[in-house]
Amino acid sequence: MSDFVSDFWNLYVIVIVVGSILACVVLLIVQGKATFTPGKTMGHVWDGDLEEYNNPMPKWWTWMFVITVVFAFVYLALYPGLGNFKGMLGWTSVGQHKAEVEKADAAAKPLFDKYLAMDLKAVAGDKQAMEMGKRLYLTYCMQCHGADARGAKGFPNLADNDWQWGGEPEQVVATIAAGRMGVMPPHPQLGAETIKDLANFVRSLSGLPGDSVRAAKGKEAFVAAGCLGCHGPEGKGNIAMGAPNLTDKVWLYGSSEATIIETITNGRQNKMPAWKEFLGDGKVHVLSAYVLSLSQGAK
Ligand code: HEC
Ligand code: HEC
Repeated sequence: MSDFVSDFWNLYVIVIVVGSILACVVLLIVQGKATFTPGKTMGHVWDGDLEEYNNPMPKWWTWMFVITVVFAFVYLALYPGLGNFKGMLGWTSVGQHKAEVEKADAAAKPLFDKYLAMDLKAVAGDKQAMEMGKRLYLTYCMQCHGADARGAKGFPNLADNDWQWGGEPEQVVATIAAGRMGVMPPHPQLGAETIKDLANFVRSLSGLPGDSVRAAKGKEAFVAAGCLGCHGPEGKGNIAMGAPNLTDKVWLYGSSEATIIETITNGRQNKMPAWKEFLGDGKVHVLSAYVLSLSQGAK
């Protein structure tokens, strides 16, 4: 594909590049033909005693110039530089980058293959694998889950033992490989009063203070509005749908009454991207082990 939309810029670049080099050649020839009178001054005087000699250019300097001109033409013939001309070697920065990435991947492949053959608990106990996992995590995951993996509003904490999508090894691998999409549907049709009742009920599930009359009404609404279909009859969540446990102290979006009202009214959804295609099975495996290692010993 051409970088330029019209041919004008192609020619424009060629004319400037070739013109500049030819100007250097002309300068060389003119200087080569000039007559010099070594030892004599040009007759210009500055500040009373600064005078200019009429000497030829040093030989080394002239040769540097010649070499530069020859180099420029050879370079422009081999590499891209002259407008749209791709150069005889067909070199591109993208191609070089690809080749380097392929080389690095090929060098690391035996190592990842070795880890792929081990089960996740064993990989999680391997010091070198965990160092690689940490580097991968800091490159690909930190932006959303935080440098310490403790998450942020809407982005789950990976360093605890609370799992929206399940914490068994296969479940964590599936989350990272294929991605996840959590959808909490909006419920504005329930009306502000019922939503407030629901919020009080949801807070009561995890022992947070609230209006007990509203919480009792909210308990009925939780069934009537179908919340239990996803969050379970006791509000303990359902990893098949990524519906969070509402009875614990872990909050994806926040536990204040106002935040819960906002969650129920407008709904929430968030997406964990899929990594299998981009990173390959080996890296996904090591990352899964790393994520599991973070929650070991956590409550
Ligand atoms: C663009 C932001 C983003 C990036 C980058 C990202 N994630 Fe996620 N991740 C999310 C979101 C959002 C969720 C929760 C999805 C939901 O709401 O259902 C999630 C969920 C998860 C979960 C499930 C947690 C649980 O409690 O079940 C794991 C594990 C995870 N991510 C690991 C990773 C790893 C490892 C990486 C790096 C390869 C990564 N994530 C990169 C946004 C991201
Ligand atoms: C279709 C399934 C589904 C239904 C029905 C549903 N939810 Fe949810 N809910 C979810 C999912 C999935 C999430 C997590 C959203 C995300 O990952 O971004 C969620 C999140 C929440 C949260 C946020 C929890 C936190 O940690 O911040 C609250 C509160 C909540 N739901 C309450 C309710 C209530 C009350 C109802 C009934 C009116 C309800 N949900 C109905 C699936 C559902």
